[in-house]
Amino acid sequence: MMNLESLTEKFESIYSAKPQAISSAPGRVNIIGEFTDYNDGFVLPCALEFRTVVLFRTREDGLVNVHSLDYPSEKESFSVNEQVSSGSSQWGNYIRAIAFVLKRAGYSLKGMDILIDSNVPQGAGLSSSAALEVAVCGAFNHVGKLGLAPQEIAVFGQQAENDFMDCQCGIMDQLISAKGDQGKALLIDCQSLETEDISIPEDLSVVIVNSNYPRKLVDSEYNQRRQDCEQAAAKLGVKTLRDATIEQLQNIETDLTLNQFKRARHVISENNRVIKATSALQRNDIDTLRELMSASHYSLKHDFEVTVPATDGLVDICQTVLGNNGAVRMTGGGFGGAIVCLCRSEDVLKVQSAVDENYEKQFNLKASVYVCKAGDGLKITELK
Ligand code: GLA
Repeated sequence: MMNLESLTEKFESIYSAKPQAISSAPGRVNIIGEFTDYNDGFVLPCALEFRTVVLFRTREDGLVNVHSLDYPSEKESFSVNEQVSSGSSQWGNYIRAIAFVLKRAGYSLKGMDILIDSNVPQGAGLSSSAALEVAVCGAFNHVGKLGLAPQEIAVFGQQAENDFMDCQCGIMDQLISAKGDQGKALLIDCQSLETEDISIPEDLSVVIVNSNYPRKLVDSEYNQRRQDCEQAAAKLGVKTLRDATIEQLQNIETDLTLNQFKRARHVISENNRVIKATSALQRNDIDTLRELMSASHYSLKHDFEVTVPATDGLVDICQTVLGNNGAVRMTGGGFGGAIVCLCRSEDVLKVQSAVDENYEKQFNLKASVYVCKAGDGLKITELK
């Protein structure tokens, strides 16, 4: 990613004026609680130090002009004074999506000149799109003096995905991107949207390994899983799976399709694991974390069916080398993407070399290893 000085120069060379402020928001890694968010359940993600940075200045004519350093040949431009509809650029649509949901909620928006840069890995399941949505919504909030709190910004980000981008995601990615805190994970109750900061012990490293497996059909499979969960909840007679127990599920097993049963069993058991993992993290209890994260992965592989051989293989490689000293599972939206390991800092190099030695040999792909610290959520900085 470019440094601030070069970014400012780049902005000036494109727009012949200085940027007025910067809005930046992080990607995330989810420690545990997968596919529970849209079932009103619990999740335990933390924000990353990888961020999407949006430099901006207000325009009085309602135009939103956007350049992104990741897509130098595409230039996006639309007016907030007109009906906002989809354009031809996929990343540009995230910006249109935010304008669309804010306008729909009755906010009157200001135009902006925008320059975007990001070092959040794309296609890794680390929420590069949520980082973009939250950062852009932060910019609209700032120039239009909309007075939105971080939680509201997150909800608009989710609405942008649900109602403009056709992805029926939950609230986790946007909420952690808006509210993350350095050194802390965030326990989110996705029903009430209440959050609690959970410190990550100093001697625990968060290591992410990106499989670089090309993710395909992610949205359609994702939306299908959500439907299975909703149908299971309806048959259970509860509003969402948050309100169901394993016993209730077992009692109506024969009324459900096999898929509905398995999806629901994952969600109900995963919610329980999040609560247990939260206190294990608070106690710095790696043994319990290992059991819970490994059970989570097993459930995602066999019941929710969102893993691929490459992520299963990476989990095996890392768990084998870490033995009792680490907790490992897939993380994020699945169908490829990344895995997460919690381990002691002295074991980080072992993970790196085990991945180097085994992964490419087995899967003909190169993995990327990121050693991470929990970073801050959305930040707005005025430039002088
Ligand atoms: C994606 C979605 C989230 C969540 C995860 C799975 O990241 O955007 O809302 O459902 O998948 O836990």
